[in-house]
Amino acid sequence: MAPADLPAPSSRTARPPVVRSVAELRDLCTRALGAPSSARGRVAFVPTMGALHRGHLALVEEASRRGTFVVVSIFVNPTQFGPHEDFSRYPRNLDADLDALAPLLSQASHAAGAVFAPDVAEMYPPGDETRVHVGALAEPLCGRFRPGHFEGVATVVAKLFCAVGPCTAVLGRKDYQQLLVVRRMARDLLLDVEVVGYPIVREADGLAMSSRNAYLSASERARALALARGLSAAAKAFARGQRDARRLEAEARAPVEAVATSIDYVEVRNAETLAACEGSVTGRTVLAIACHVGSTRLIDNLVLGEDPPPLAS
Ligand code: PAJ
Repeated sequence: MAPADLPAPSSRTARPPVVRSVAELRDLCTRALGAPSSARGRVAFVPTMGALHRGHLALVEEASRRGTFVVVSIFVNPTQFGPHEDFSRYPRNLDADLDALAPLLSQASHAAGAVFAPDVAEMYPPGDETRVHVGALAEPLCGRFRPGHFEGVATVVAKLFCAVGPCTAVLGRKDYQQLLVVRRMARDLLLDVEVVGYPIVREADGLAMSSRNAYLSASERARALALARGLSAAAKAFARGQRDARRLEAEARAPVEAVATSIDYVEVRNAETLAACEGSVTGRTVLAIACHVGSTRLIDNLVLGEDPPPLAS
């Protein structure tokens, strides 16, 4: 396929161009950056696995404020799923995703953009045997319960960063540990990428948006609100002056314990290093939850004293 053209600024609801190969993507991004001597464009990049919801779209909007050319990747990355996880049933609907992106990537008021939707062989060429391993940041929390997950994430995001080139990448704080792991990886590999964290986008009732929410039955959807409830209880205790790490965790855990099928963790940790907190919390502290409701794994978090409680009442 010939390299897709940059969309004309006047095209209003046309779908963004879809590129399938790294070579086409490189060509588009190089052209978007422009000649080194002229006023340079800036590429802003949003990596996703598709099944786009308003959380993803908010990242794309942020990217279009930060760049002159926006790349959204849509790739369900096999190496970040465990053998018993949901890789094969992960929701995939490229047509719906392109329709959702059309108004954001095609209107004159927004940055131009393209979607990168490679197949597995494009990202993992035959014989591929290289992985990116991030150390201590990838060990606690989800790292304990999803062995190999962050290696898969760091590997695919490093490949995507190499394909896109110098850029600002916008990632969600919904996946808080992932954001830190990706930022560390980019720094350690000397990649010319600024990694920006975007706040969690929630449903009106406080549930953090997630592609996996589509798995929830109506009753599980109601139970899933316990994560937001737990975070809110702990945030309010923190606002009242509670600083004891175990008590803050207990506040958050109680509502989750009442309805979750199983709990992976409810933990307070240093918000930059993810080091464990003993006794009183000091400095920036993240409270993170992962649990199963039915067979669906849900995660949520907030930075104590910074993020508002997800539930107002
Ligand atoms: P995915 O789950 O599709 O998420 C893509 C991006 O959207 C991530 O940066 C994630 O944190 C962000 N996001 C998801 N839900 C959000 C919400 N409710 N509010 C704000 N941001 C939200 O995360 C991945 O894909 C993959 O691991 C990926 C980074 C693409 C690597 O394969």
